[in-house]
Amino acid sequence: MLSAATVSALMLAASTSAATLTAEATLKVDQPGPKIDKYVYGQFSEHLGAGIYEGVWVGEGSKIPNVRGIRTDVVNALKEIKVPLIRWPGGCFADEYHWRDGIGPRDQRPSRKNNWWGGSPESNHFGTHEFFDFAEQVGADAYVSINVGSGDPTEMREWIEYMTSPGEDTLAQERRKNGRDKPFKVPVIGIGNESWGCGGSMTPEYYSNEYRRFNEFFHKGADNPALRIAVGPPSGGDDDNWTEVVMKQIGSGRMDGLSLHYYTLPTGQWEKKGASINFSRQAWVDTFSRTLKLEDFIVKHGAIMDKYDPEKKVALYVDEWGTWYDVEPGTNPGHLYQLNTLRDGVLAAVNFNFFHKHADRVKMTAVAQTINVLQAMILTKDDKILLTPTYYAFKMYVPFQDSTSLPLELNPPTFTSGDKTLPAINASAAKGKDGKTYIGLANMNPDDEVKLTVNLGTLKATKVSGEVLTAPKMDARNEMGVPATVVPVSYKGGKISGNKLTLNLPAKSVVVVKLD
Ligand code: AHR
Repeated sequence: MLSAATVSALMLAASTSAATLTAEATLKVDQPGPKIDKYVYGQFSEHLGAGIYEGVWVGEGSKIPNVRGIRTDVVNALKEIKVPLIRWPGGCFADEYHWRDGIGPRDQRPSRKNNWWGGSPESNHFGTHEFFDFAEQVGADAYVSINVGSGDPTEMREWIEYMTSPGEDTLAQERRKNGRDKPFKVPVIGIGNESWGCGGSMTPEYYSNEYRRFNEFFHKGADNPALRIAVGPPSGGDDDNWTEVVMKQIGSGRMDGLSLHYYTLPTGQWEKKGASINFSRQAWVDTFSRTLKLEDFIVKHGAIMDKYDPEKKVALYVDEWGTWYDVEPGTNPGHLYQLNTLRDGVLAAVNFNFFHKHADRVKMTAVAQTINVLQAMILTKDDKILLTPTYYAFKMYVPFQDSTSLPLELNPPTFTSGDKTLPAINASAAKGKDGKTYIGLANMNPDDEVKLTVNLGTLKATKVSGEVLTAPKMDARNEMGVPATVVPVSYKGGKISGNKLTLNLPAKSVVVVKLD
Protein backbone atom coordinates (compact mmCIF):
# COMPACT_ATOMS: atom_id res chain seq x y z
CA MET A 1 0.00 0.00 0.00
CA LEU A 2 1.50 3.39 -0.98
CA SER A 3 1.26 6.29 1.49
CA ALA A 4 -0.60 9.45 0.45
CA ALA A 5 2.73 11.30 0.42
CA THR A 6 4.25 8.76 -1.98
CA VAL A 7 1.22 8.96 -4.26
CA SER A 8 1.45 12.78 -4.32
CA ALA A 9 5.18 12.60 -5.06
CA LEU A 10 4.56 10.14 -7.91
CA MET A 11 1.77 12.31 -9.34
CA LEU A 12 4.03 15.35 -9.24
CA ALA A 13 6.81 13.45 -10.99
CA ALA A 14 4.34 12.29 -13.66
CA SER A 15 2.97 15.77 -14.21
CA THR A 16 6.40 17.42 -14.39
CA SER A 17 7.85 14.83 -16.81
CA ALA A 18 5.32 15.80 -19.51
CA ALA A 19 5.92 19.13 -21.19
CA THR A 20 4.07 21.29 -23.68
CA LEU A 21 5.97 21.80 -26.92
CA THR A 22 5.04 24.61 -29.26
CA ALA A 23 4.87 24.81 -33.03
CA GLU A 24 3.70 27.12 -35.78
CA ALA A 25 2.11 26.53 -39.15
CA THR A 26 0.73 28.54 -42.04
CA LEU A 27 -2.28 27.46 -44.06
CA LYS A 28 -2.56 28.67 -47.65
CA VAL A 29 -6.17 28.27 -48.73
CA ASP A 30 -5.59 30.56 -51.71
CA GLN A 31 -3.07 28.12 -53.24
CA PRO A 32 -5.06 24.86 -53.63
CA GLY A 33 -3.03 21.84 -54.66
CA PRO A 34 -3.95 18.56 -56.37
CA LYS A 35 -6.96 16.43 -55.58
CA ILE A 36 -6.56 13.84 -52.82
CA ASP A 37 -8.02 10.86 -54.63
CA LYS A 38 -10.40 8.75 -52.57
CA TYR A 39 -8.37 5.71 -53.67
CA VAL A 40 -5.68 6.92 -51.21
CA TYR A 41 -7.89 5.24 -48.60
CA GLY A 42 -7.83 1.82 -50.34
CA GLN A 43 -7.53 -1.56 -48.66
CA PHE A 44 -5.65 -4.76 -49.40
CA SER A 45 -7.39 -8.12 -48.79
CA GLU A 46 -5.39 -11.22 -49.61
CA HIS A 47 -6.12 -14.93 -49.29
CA LEU A 48 -3.92 -15.10 -46.21
CA GLY A 49 -4.69 -16.49 -42.75
CA ALA A 50 -8.14 -15.40 -41.63
CA GLY A 51 -8.18 -12.38 -43.96
CA ILE A 52 -10.78 -13.75 -46.37
CA TYR A 53 -12.00 -17.01 -44.83
CA GLU A 54 -13.50 -16.09 -41.41
CA GLY A 55 -12.81 -12.38 -41.98
CA VAL A 56 -15.10 -11.91 -44.98
CA TRP A 57 -16.41 -15.28 -46.09
CA VAL A 58 -18.35 -17.45 -43.64
CA GLY A 59 -20.50 -19.25 -46.20
CA GLU A 60 -24.22 -19.11 -46.78
CA GLY A 61 -25.00 -21.76 -44.16
CA SER A 62 -23.15 -19.96 -41.34
CA LYS A 63 -24.88 -18.92 -38.11
CA ILE A 64 -22.93 -15.65 -38.39
CA PRO A 65 -25.27 -13.17 -40.10
CA ASN A 66 -24.28 -12.95 -43.74
CA VAL A 67 -25.51 -11.95 -47.17
CA ARG A 68 -24.71 -14.65 -49.71
CA GLY A 69 -21.92 -15.94 -47.42
CA ILE A 70 -20.31 -12.53 -46.74
CA ARG A 71 -20.44 -11.43 -43.12
CA THR A 72 -22.75 -8.50 -42.51
CA ASP A 73 -20.94 -7.02 -39.48
CA VAL A 74 -17.74 -6.64 -41.49
CA VAL A 75 -19.51 -5.13 -44.51
CA ASN A 76 -21.34 -2.63 -42.29
CA ALA A 77 -18.13 -1.60 -40.53
CA LEU A 78 -16.30 -1.10 -43.85
CA LYS A 79 -19.18 0.94 -45.25
CA GLU A 80 -18.78 3.32 -42.29
CA ILE A 81 -15.20 4.16 -43.31
CA LYS A 82 -16.26 4.46 -46.96
CA VAL A 83 -13.69 2.01 -48.31
CA PRO A 84 -13.20 3.21 -51.89
CA LEU A 85 -11.10 0.35 -53.33
CA ILE A 86 -10.18 -3.24 -52.42
CA ARG A 87 -7.08 -4.94 -53.83
CA TRP A 88 -7.48 -8.73 -54.24
CA PRO A 89 -6.53 -11.70 -54.35
CA GLY A 90 -2.90 -10.91 -53.32
CA GLY A 91 -0.08 -10.26 -52.65
CA CYS A 92 2.13 -13.25 -53.13
CA PHE A 93 -1.02 -15.36 -53.40
CA ALA A 94 -1.94 -13.64 -56.68
CA ASP A 95 1.00 -15.09 -58.60
CA GLU A 96 -0.14 -18.65 -57.85
CA TYR A 97 -3.84 -17.96 -58.29
CA HIS A 98 -5.71 -19.42 -61.22
CA TRP A 99 -9.04 -17.70 -61.60
CA ARG A 100 -10.82 -20.74 -63.04
CA ASP A 101 -10.36 -22.45 -59.65
CA GLY A 102 -12.72 -19.89 -58.15
CA ILE A 103 -15.78 -19.94 -60.45
CA GLY A 104 -18.72 -22.29 -60.91
CA PRO A 105 -20.50 -24.43 -58.29
CA ARG A 106 -18.58 -24.17 -55.04
CA ASP A 107 -18.72 -27.86 -54.24
CA GLN A 108 -16.92 -28.59 -57.51
CA ARG A 109 -14.08 -26.09 -57.07
CA PRO A 110 -10.64 -27.57 -56.49
CA SER A 111 -8.98 -27.32 -53.10
CA ARG A 112 -5.38 -26.05 -53.27
CA LYS A 113 -2.55 -25.46 -50.87
CA ASN A 114 -1.81 -21.84 -50.03
CA ASN A 115 1.94 -22.21 -50.40
CA TRP A 116 2.81 -18.68 -49.37
CA TRP A 117 0.77 -18.50 -46.22
CA GLY A 118 1.26 -21.42 -43.87
CA GLY A 119 0.39 -24.11 -46.43
CA SER A 120 -3.24 -23.71 -45.38
CA PRO A 121 -6.01 -25.24 -47.49
CA GLU A 122 -7.56 -22.91 -50.03
CA SER A 123 -11.11 -24.04 -50.74
CA ASN A 124 -11.62 -21.52 -53.55
CA HIS A 125 -15.11 -20.89 -52.17
CA PHE A 126 -14.29 -17.21 -52.36
CA GLY A 127 -13.57 -16.51 -56.03
CA THR A 128 -14.33 -13.88 -58.64
CA HIS A 129 -18.10 -13.64 -58.09
CA GLU A 130 -17.78 -13.64 -54.30
CA PHE A 131 -15.08 -10.96 -54.40
CA PHE A 132 -17.18 -8.61 -56.55
CA ASP A 133 -20.21 -9.31 -54.36
CA PHE A 134 -18.12 -8.30 -51.31
CA ALA A 135 -16.78 -5.14 -53.00
CA GLU A 136 -20.27 -4.18 -54.20
CA GLN A 137 -21.81 -4.75 -50.75
CA VAL A 138 -19.12 -2.49 -49.25
CA GLY A 139 -19.54 0.07 -52.07
CA ALA A 140 -15.86 -0.20 -53.05
CA ASP A 141 -14.22 -0.42 -56.45
CA ALA A 142 -12.19 -3.49 -57.40
CA TYR A 143 -8.44 -3.68 -57.88
CA VAL A 144 -7.61 -7.12 -59.25
CA SER A 145 -4.01 -8.39 -59.28
CA ILE A 146 -3.37 -10.83 -62.07
CA ASN A 147 -0.96 -13.73 -62.12
CA VAL A 148 2.22 -12.92 -64.04
CA GLY A 149 4.64 -15.11 -62.06
CA SER A 150 3.12 -18.51 -62.81
CA GLY A 151 0.39 -17.54 -65.25
CA ASP A 152 0.44 -16.42 -68.86
CA PRO A 153 -1.09 -13.66 -70.98
CA THR A 154 -3.85 -15.97 -72.23
CA GLU A 155 -5.01 -16.68 -68.68
CA MET A 156 -5.00 -12.92 -67.98
CA ARG A 157 -6.86 -12.05 -71.18
CA GLU A 158 -9.52 -14.67 -70.55
CA TRP A 159 -10.08 -13.56 -66.95
CA ILE A 160 -10.42 -9.95 -68.04
CA GLU A 161 -12.84 -10.96 -70.81
CA TYR A 162 -14.83 -13.10 -68.35
CA MET A 163 -15.13 -10.19 -65.94
CA THR A 164 -15.72 -7.34 -68.38
CA SER A 165 -17.22 -8.51 -71.67
CA PRO A 166 -20.73 -7.19 -72.33
CA GLY A 167 -21.07 -9.34 -75.50
CA GLU A 168 -22.30 -12.76 -76.46
CA ASP A 169 -18.91 -14.43 -76.49
CA THR A 170 -18.38 -17.73 -74.70
CA LEU A 171 -16.63 -16.22 -71.66
CA ALA A 172 -19.37 -13.64 -71.11
CA GLN A 173 -21.96 -16.42 -71.44
CA GLU A 174 -20.06 -18.49 -68.91
CA ARG A 175 -20.15 -15.56 -66.48
CA ARG A 176 -23.90 -15.28 -67.02
CA LYS A 177 -24.33 -19.00 -66.44
CA ASN A 178 -22.49 -18.49 -63.14
CA GLY A 179 -25.00 -15.87 -62.08
CA ARG A 180 -23.77 -12.50 -63.31
CA ASP A 181 -25.39 -10.92 -66.33
CA LYS A 182 -23.82 -7.46 -66.38
CA PRO A 183 -20.03 -7.21 -66.64
CA PHE A 184 -18.19 -6.54 -63.40
CA LYS A 185 -16.65 -3.10 -63.00
CA VAL A 186 -12.84 -3.47 -62.86
CA PRO A 187 -11.24 -0.02 -62.70
CA VAL A 188 -7.75 -1.15 -61.63
CA ILE A 189 -5.63 -4.17 -62.60
CA GLY A 190 -2.17 -4.97 -61.26
CA ILE A 191 0.13 -6.71 -63.73
CA GLY A 192 2.02 -8.87 -61.27
CA ASN A 193 2.92 -8.37 -57.60
CA GLU A 194 6.43 -8.07 -56.18
CA SER A 195 7.82 -9.66 -59.35
CA TRP A 196 11.32 -9.08 -57.92
CA GLY A 197 10.46 -11.57 -55.12
CA CYS A 198 7.47 -13.86 -54.52
CA GLY A 199 6.04 -12.85 -57.90
CA GLY A 200 8.78 -14.59 -59.89
CA SER A 201 12.24 -13.44 -58.71
CA MET A 202 12.64 -11.39 -61.88
CA THR A 203 15.23 -8.79 -62.75
CA PRO A 204 13.80 -5.38 -63.70
CA GLU A 205 14.79 -5.99 -67.33
CA TYR A 206 13.03 -9.36 -67.42
CA TYR A 207 9.93 -8.00 -65.67
CA SER A 208 9.77 -5.06 -68.08
CA ASN A 209 9.72 -7.47 -71.03
CA GLU A 210 7.09 -9.61 -69.34
CA TYR A 211 5.00 -6.55 -68.59
CA ARG A 212 5.18 -5.43 -72.22
CA ARG A 213 4.11 -8.90 -73.39
CA PHE A 214 1.15 -9.03 -70.98
CA ASN A 215 0.21 -5.47 -71.86
CA GLU A 216 -0.05 -6.40 -75.51
CA PHE A 217 -2.90 -8.79 -74.69
CA PHE A 218 -4.52 -6.56 -72.07
CA HIS A 219 -6.68 -4.80 -74.70
CA LYS A 220 -7.31 -1.66 -72.75
CA GLY A 221 -10.39 -0.04 -74.27
CA ALA A 222 -14.12 0.47 -73.91
CA ASP A 223 -14.83 -2.95 -72.34
CA ASN A 224 -11.66 -2.94 -70.28
CA PRO A 225 -10.73 0.63 -69.29
CA ALA A 226 -8.77 -0.53 -66.22
CA LEU A 227 -5.74 1.38 -65.02
CA ARG A 228 -2.65 -0.85 -65.46
CA ILE A 229 -0.35 -0.98 -62.46
CA ALA A 230 3.24 -2.11 -62.93
CA VAL A 231 5.33 -3.62 -60.16
CA GLY A 232 7.55 -1.07 -58.43
CA PRO A 233 10.78 -1.34 -56.46
CA PRO A 234 11.52 -4.02 -53.85
CA SER A 235 9.96 -3.40 -50.42
CA GLY A 236 12.12 -1.16 -48.33
CA GLY A 237 12.44 1.20 -51.28
CA ASP A 238 16.23 1.15 -51.57
CA ASP A 239 16.50 -0.20 -55.11
CA ASP A 240 16.48 2.83 -57.41
CA ASN A 241 17.60 0.74 -60.35
CA TRP A 242 14.29 -1.18 -60.47
CA THR A 243 12.32 2.07 -60.85
CA GLU A 244 14.81 3.43 -63.43
CA VAL A 245 14.66 0.32 -65.62
CA VAL A 246 10.91 -0.22 -65.39
CA MET A 247 10.06 3.43 -66.09
CA LYS A 248 12.46 3.52 -69.03
CA GLN A 249 11.71 0.15 -70.61
CA ILE A 250 7.96 -0.06 -70.10
CA GLY A 251 7.42 3.65 -70.71
CA SER A 252 4.65 5.90 -69.48
CA GLY A 253 2.38 5.07 -72.45
CA ARG A 254 2.00 1.45 -71.39
CA MET A 255 1.23 1.88 -67.70
CA ASP A 256 -0.97 4.05 -65.53
CA GLY A 257 0.59 3.40 -62.15
CA LEU A 258 3.71 2.06 -60.50
CA SER A 259 3.34 0.27 -57.19
CA LEU A 260 5.45 0.85 -54.08
CA HIS A 261 5.35 -1.43 -51.03
CA TYR A 262 6.62 -0.28 -47.68
CA TYR A 263 6.16 -2.04 -44.36
CA THR A 264 7.05 -0.53 -40.98
CA LEU A 265 8.93 -3.00 -38.75
CA PRO A 266 9.86 -1.56 -35.34
CA THR A 267 13.31 -3.17 -35.40
CA GLY A 268 13.80 -3.11 -39.17
CA GLN A 269 14.74 -6.82 -38.93
CA TRP A 270 12.56 -9.49 -40.54
CA GLU A 271 13.81 -12.19 -38.13
CA LYS A 272 12.65 -10.26 -35.04
CA LYS A 273 10.33 -7.48 -36.06
CA GLY A 274 9.07 -6.37 -32.63
CA ALA A 275 5.92 -6.96 -30.60
CA SER A 276 2.50 -5.51 -31.36
CA ILE A 277 1.72 -4.91 -27.65
CA ASN A 278 3.74 -4.53 -24.43
CA PHE A 279 6.46 -2.66 -26.28
CA SER A 280 8.88 -0.09 -24.84
CA ARG A 281 8.97 3.65 -25.38
CA GLN A 282 12.06 3.12 -27.53
CA ALA A 283 10.11 0.66 -29.71
CA TRP A 284 7.42 3.33 -30.16
CA VAL A 285 10.09 5.82 -31.28
CA ASP A 286 11.82 3.30 -33.56
CA THR A 287 8.51 2.45 -35.20
CA PHE A 288 7.78 6.08 -36.05
CA SER A 289 11.33 6.70 -37.14
CA ARG A 290 10.95 3.83 -39.64
CA THR A 291 7.54 4.87 -40.90
CA LEU A 292 8.89 8.36 -41.64
CA LYS A 293 11.17 6.77 -44.24
CA LEU A 294 8.16 6.06 -46.44
CA GLU A 295 8.01 9.75 -47.27
CA ASP A 296 11.69 9.66 -48.32
CA PHE A 297 10.92 6.75 -50.64
CA ILE A 298 7.92 8.51 -52.16
CA VAL A 299 10.12 11.52 -52.86
CA LYS A 300 13.05 9.45 -54.17
CA HIS A 301 11.05 7.20 -56.49
CA GLY A 302 8.83 10.12 -57.49
CA ALA A 303 11.96 11.96 -58.66
CA ILE A 304 13.04 8.99 -60.80
CA MET A 305 9.54 8.82 -62.25
CA ASP A 306 9.73 12.56 -63.04
CA LYS A 307 12.72 11.87 -65.30
CA TYR A 308 10.70 9.55 -67.53
CA ASP A 309 7.24 10.97 -66.91
CA PRO A 310 7.54 14.71 -66.24
CA GLU A 311 3.82 15.21 -66.84
CA LYS A 312 3.05 12.78 -64.00
CA LYS A 313 0.78 10.59 -66.12
CA VAL A 314 1.90 7.52 -64.17
CA ALA A 315 0.71 7.54 -60.57
CA LEU A 316 2.56 6.09 -57.61
CA TYR A 317 0.38 3.40 -55.99
CA VAL A 318 1.52 2.61 -52.45
CA ASP A 319 -0.56 -0.54 -52.65
CA GLU A 320 0.89 -2.26 -49.58
CA TRP A 321 1.77 -0.31 -46.46
CA GLY A 322 1.40 -0.64 -42.71
CA THR A 323 2.99 -2.16 -39.62
CA TRP A 324 4.38 -5.67 -39.60
CA TYR A 325 5.09 -7.13 -36.14
CA ASP A 326 5.96 -10.56 -34.78
CA VAL A 327 2.80 -12.67 -34.96
CA GLU A 328 0.65 -13.01 -31.87
CA PRO A 329 2.18 -15.85 -29.80
CA GLY A 330 0.40 -19.14 -30.35
CA THR A 331 -0.92 -18.25 -33.81
CA ASN A 332 0.21 -19.71 -37.13
CA PRO A 333 3.36 -17.77 -38.16
CA GLY A 334 2.17 -17.91 -41.78
CA HIS A 335 -1.09 -16.15 -40.94
CA LEU A 336 0.42 -12.78 -39.96
CA TYR A 337 -2.08 -12.15 -37.18
CA GLN A 338 -1.09 -9.24 -34.94
CA LEU A 339 -2.85 -6.97 -32.45
CA ASN A 340 -3.44 -3.30 -33.13
CA THR A 341 -2.94 -0.44 -30.68
CA LEU A 342 -3.00 3.32 -30.45
CA ARG A 343 0.49 3.23 -32.03
CA ASP A 344 -1.05 1.83 -35.23
CA GLY A 345 -3.77 4.47 -35.27
CA VAL A 346 -1.27 7.33 -34.92
CA LEU A 347 1.01 5.74 -37.51
CA ALA A 348 -1.87 5.48 -39.99
CA ALA A 349 -2.51 9.22 -39.63
CA VAL A 350 1.20 10.01 -40.13
CA ASN A 351 1.08 8.10 -43.40
CA PHE A 352 -2.18 9.74 -44.54
CA ASN A 353 -0.50 13.10 -44.06
CA PHE A 354 2.41 12.03 -46.32
CA PHE A 355 0.02 10.76 -48.97
CA HIS A 356 -1.87 14.07 -48.94
CA LYS A 357 1.35 16.04 -49.19
CA HIS A 358 2.40 14.07 -52.26
CA ALA A 359 -1.05 13.91 -53.86
CA ASP A 360 0.41 15.08 -57.17
CA ARG A 361 1.95 11.59 -57.58
CA VAL A 362 0.33 9.35 -54.97
CA LYS A 363 -3.14 8.59 -56.32
CA MET A 364 -3.86 5.36 -54.54
CA THR A 365 -2.74 3.33 -51.55
CA ALA A 366 -3.85 0.07 -49.94
CA VAL A 367 -3.23 -0.62 -46.28
CA ALA A 368 -2.14 -4.18 -45.50
CA GLN A 369 -4.53 -5.70 -44.69
CA THR A 370 -8.26 -5.19 -44.11
CA ILE A 371 -9.18 -7.98 -41.67
CA ASN A 372 -7.20 -10.24 -39.29
CA VAL A 373 -3.87 -9.73 -41.11
CA LEU A 374 -1.05 -7.24 -40.31
CA GLN A 375 -2.31 -3.68 -39.64
CA ALA A 376 -5.96 -4.62 -39.79
CA MET A 377 -9.07 -2.45 -39.56
CA ILE A 378 -11.05 -5.32 -38.09
CA LEU A 379 -10.25 -8.42 -36.04
CA THR A 380 -12.80 -11.21 -35.86
CA LYS A 381 -13.39 -14.12 -33.49
CA ASP A 382 -16.30 -16.38 -34.36
CA ASP A 383 -19.37 -14.11 -34.45
CA LYS A 384 -17.61 -11.14 -32.79
CA ILE A 385 -15.67 -8.31 -34.37
CA LEU A 386 -13.39 -5.65 -32.98
CA LEU A 387 -12.67 -2.30 -34.62
CA THR A 388 -9.03 -1.30 -34.20
CA PRO A 389 -7.46 2.13 -33.59
CA THR A 390 -6.36 1.97 -37.25
CA TYR A 391 -10.03 1.63 -38.25
CA TYR A 392 -10.85 4.77 -36.28
CA ALA A 393 -7.99 6.73 -37.86
CA PHE A 394 -9.43 5.82 -41.28
CA LYS A 395 -12.86 6.93 -40.09
CA MET A 396 -11.60 10.30 -38.86
CA TYR A 397 -9.92 10.97 -42.20
CA VAL A 398 -12.99 10.22 -44.38
CA PRO A 399 -13.52 13.95 -45.17
CA PHE A 400 -10.17 13.91 -47.03
CA GLN A 401 -11.49 11.48 -49.66
CA ASP A 402 -11.72 13.33 -53.00
CA SER A 403 -10.83 16.62 -51.31
CA THR A 404 -8.48 19.30 -52.63
CA SER A 405 -5.15 19.47 -50.85
CA LEU A 406 -4.12 22.78 -49.30
CA PRO A 407 -0.53 23.74 -48.49
CA LEU A 408 0.19 23.69 -44.76
CA GLU A 409 3.68 24.90 -43.96
CA LEU A 410 4.63 23.38 -40.63
CA ASN A 411 7.62 23.87 -38.43
CA PRO A 412 7.43 20.83 -36.14
CA PRO A 413 9.19 20.66 -32.80
CA THR A 414 11.39 17.59 -32.41
CA PHE A 415 11.92 15.03 -29.70
CA THR A 416 14.86 12.76 -29.10
CA SER A 417 15.15 9.22 -27.85
CA GLY A 418 18.41 7.25 -27.91
CA ASP A 419 20.11 8.14 -31.18
CA LYS A 420 16.87 9.18 -32.89
CA THR A 421 15.43 12.65 -33.28
CA LEU A 422 11.95 12.84 -34.76
CA PRO A 423 9.45 15.57 -35.61
CA ALA A 424 6.80 15.49 -32.89
CA ILE A 425 3.92 16.14 -35.27
CA ASN A 426 2.96 15.96 -38.90
CA ALA A 427 -0.14 17.36 -40.52
CA SER A 428 -2.03 18.01 -43.74
CA ALA A 429 -4.93 20.17 -44.83
CA ALA A 430 -7.59 20.04 -47.50
CA LYS A 431 -10.84 21.54 -48.70
CA GLY A 432 -13.42 18.79 -48.46
CA LYS A 433 -16.17 18.02 -50.96
CA ASP A 434 -18.50 19.87 -48.56
CA GLY A 435 -16.47 23.08 -49.05
CA LYS A 436 -15.15 23.04 -45.47
CA THR A 437 -11.48 23.16 -44.53
CA TYR A 438 -10.05 20.15 -42.70
CA ILE A 439 -6.73 19.68 -40.92
CA GLY A 440 -5.47 16.23 -39.94
CA LEU A 441 -2.68 15.96 -37.36
CA ALA A 442 -0.67 13.24 -35.69
CA ASN A 443 1.34 13.77 -32.50
CA MET A 444 4.07 11.08 -32.51
CA ASN A 445 5.54 12.24 -29.20
CA PRO A 446 4.50 9.66 -26.59
CA ASP A 447 4.98 12.04 -23.65
CA ASP A 448 4.33 15.64 -24.53
CA GLU A 449 1.43 17.62 -25.86
CA VAL A 450 2.05 20.13 -28.63
CA LYS A 451 0.46 23.54 -28.78
CA LEU A 452 0.21 24.43 -32.45
CA THR A 453 -0.61 27.91 -33.71
CA VAL A 454 -1.84 28.01 -37.29
CA ASN A 455 -1.87 31.22 -39.26
CA LEU A 456 -5.08 30.88 -41.29
CA GLY A 457 -4.07 33.50 -43.87
CA THR A 458 -7.10 34.49 -45.93
CA LEU A 459 -9.42 31.80 -44.53
CA LYS A 460 -12.35 33.34 -42.70
CA ALA A 461 -13.29 30.83 -40.03
CA THR A 462 -14.83 31.32 -36.64
CA LYS A 463 -15.53 27.80 -35.45
CA VAL A 464 -13.32 24.75 -34.91
CA SER A 465 -14.73 21.31 -34.20
CA GLY A 466 -13.43 17.80 -34.62
CA GLU A 467 -12.37 14.55 -33.07
CA VAL A 468 -9.36 13.22 -31.18
CA LEU A 469 -8.08 9.66 -30.83
CA THR A 470 -5.76 9.04 -27.90
CA ALA A 471 -5.38 6.91 -24.76
CA PRO A 472 -3.29 6.87 -21.57
CA LYS A 473 -1.06 4.00 -22.73
CA MET A 474 1.03 3.66 -25.90
CA ASP A 475 -0.30 0.15 -26.48
CA ALA A 476 -3.91 0.84 -25.55
CA ARG A 477 -6.20 -1.28 -27.69
CA ASN A 478 -9.76 -2.42 -28.11
CA GLU A 479 -10.55 -5.92 -26.96
CA MET A 480 -12.95 -8.53 -28.26
CA GLY A 481 -16.35 -8.68 -26.59
CA VAL A 482 -15.98 -5.55 -24.43
CA PRO A 483 -16.89 -1.96 -25.32
CA ALA A 484 -14.11 -0.22 -27.27
CA THR A 485 -12.09 2.37 -25.36
CA VAL A 486 -9.69 3.58 -28.04
CA VAL A 487 -12.27 5.50 -30.04
CA PRO A 488 -12.43 9.06 -31.36
CA VAL A 489 -14.14 11.53 -29.06
CA SER A 490 -15.20 15.13 -29.55
CA TYR A 491 -12.19 17.47 -29.64
CA LYS A 492 -12.26 20.50 -27.35
CA GLY A 493 -8.65 21.63 -27.73
CA GLY A 494 -9.09 24.16 -30.56
CA LYS A 495 -9.70 27.91 -30.53
CA ILE A 496 -9.88 30.56 -33.24
CA SER A 497 -9.00 34.15 -32.55
CA GLY A 498 -8.84 36.46 -35.57
CA ASN A 499 -6.90 34.55 -38.17
CA LYS A 500 -5.04 32.44 -35.61
CA LEU A 501 -6.08 28.90 -34.82
CA THR A 502 -4.58 27.22 -31.77
CA LEU A 503 -4.73 23.48 -31.32
CA ASN A 504 -3.62 21.56 -28.25
CA LEU A 505 -2.55 18.15 -29.49
CA PRO A 506 -2.33 15.57 -26.71
CA ALA A 507 0.71 13.30 -26.58
CA LYS A 508 0.32 10.24 -28.87
CA SER A 509 -2.82 11.35 -30.60
CA VAL A 510 -4.64 11.84 -33.88
CA VAL A 511 -6.72 14.98 -34.29
CA VAL A 512 -8.90 15.95 -37.26
CA VAL A 513 -10.56 19.36 -37.17
CA LYS A 514 -13.09 21.08 -39.37
CA LEU A 515 -13.03 24.86 -39.71
CA ASP A 516 -16.29 26.75 -40.32
O1 AHR B 1 0.93 -8.45 -47.15
C1 AHR B 1 1.67 -9.63 -47.02
C2 AHR B 1 2.65 -9.84 -48.16
O2 AHR B 1 3.61 -8.83 -48.15
C3 AHR B 1 2.09 -9.77 -49.55
O3 AHR B 1 1.52 -10.96 -49.96
C4 AHR B 1 3.30 -9.47 -50.38
O4 AHR B 1 2.99 -8.77 -51.56
C5 AHR B 1 4.17 -8.66 -49.44
O5 AHR B 1 5.48 -9.11 -49.42
